[in-house]
Amino acid sequence: MKRITLSSPGGLDQLHMDEAPHPGEPGPGQVRVRIHASSLNFHDYGVVTGAIPTEDNRIPMADGAGVVEAIGDGVTEFRVGDSVVSTFFPEWLDGPARIDNFSTTPGDGQDGYACEQVIRPTSWFTLAPKGYSHAEAATLTTAGLTAWRALVVDGNLKAGDTVLTLGTGGVSVFALQFARMMGAQVISTSSSDKKLERLKELGASHTINYQSTPAWGEKVRELTDGKGVDHVIEVGGPGTLPQSIDAVRIGGHIALIGVLTGRAGDIPTAKLMAKQARLQGLIVGSRTHQQEMIRAIETSDMRPVLDRSFALEQIADAFRYEESGEHFGKICLEY
Ligand SMILES: NC(=O)c1ccc[n+]([C@@H]2O[C@H](COP(=O)([O-])OP(=O)(O)OC[C@H]3O[C@@H](n4cnc5c(N)ncnc54)[C@H](OP(=O)(O)O)[C@@H]3O)[C@@H](O)[C@H]2O)c1
Repeated sequence: MKRITLSSPGGLDQLHMDEAPHPGEPGPGQVRVRIHASSLNFHDYGVVTGAIPTEDNRIPMADGAGVVEAIGDGVTEFRVGDSVVSTFFPEWLDGPARIDNFSTTPGDGQDGYACEQVIRPTSWFTLAPKGYSHAEAATLTTAGLTAWRALVVDGNLKAGDTVLTLGTGGVSVFALQFARMMGAQVISTSSSDKKLERLKELGASHTINYQSTPAWGEKVRELTDGKGVDHVIEVGGPGTLPQSIDAVRIGGHIALIGVLTGRAGDIPTAKLMAKQARLQGLIVGSRTHQQEMIRAIETSDMRPVLDRSFALEQIADAFRYEESGEHFGKICLEY
């Protein structure tokens, strides 16, 4: 089977494809999955470029979707032929968050899904949404579930709420789609007027170019009759958080998800306190959260926004494309 490994210390020129032996038969409680797709996330980019150090010869990619090829003794949850999708925290099955690192995450602390076959315990996968392609399903593990948890699990999103999404990466576009699916209004930002048009097509009621309108927090308040939004999908980190605090309503919720602008910086804490807003950090979600998200997706006609797919051997080109920032939604690998 084909696989990609990453040599230390990382770098896009350190991704190598080779042919590994067939993984054999699954043991008790395990499944063998033929992986057909993965999708790229900023975290995977950190791993493959070496910014997030991992073991030598790590198989990258947190997201994986494919078909169950064989089941071991005692497996009742899956049958041969089922379409499945991987989980980000294979050991966080349910209940409140209890992992603050990536030691159990495929593609970082564990081998990931840039390969054709894996044998894993059943808890490392859930069923994929019925009717989804493998590429569509693969987008759910990280980006989809992060947006879902931010809005639905942590944010307790209600119909009629207003959500602010920042930029047009995987998490933000999912957040726009989930918010619309659940009857919320969305204000979205991007650096590109062309992408703003696409956000409108997906249902954003207002869009703002965050480059030509650097005080976008004030603009968001104007658009909400001075009140501010109920939820902010904060993927930028220190460079955007001051504007997000400006944009959130009194008592609102900021889901602190990303660090696109850096890892530390000055935050207007007094303003956050005065706003009495809730700043909630999060990392993806549990296996149960993923099953709940998939159940909701299956009651809707929501399909992930796929930008472009690459072959497994083009993985470095796929990350170069992510680096360019030209994408809208998810970049995938299909194999
Ligand atoms: N905590 C978690 O569980 C979790 C899970 C997934 C991702 N993340 C994090 O969330 C962030 C986004 O991840 P992703 O996978 O969605 O990334 P991505 O698909 O690579 O998205 C990048 C997009 O973000 C937008 N962007 C960049 N700088 C921005 C800024 N200053 N203000 C607003 N938007 C900006 C750009 O949109 P435009 O081109 O439209 O300007 C860009 O295309 C990353 O920091 C990632 O590590 C966290």
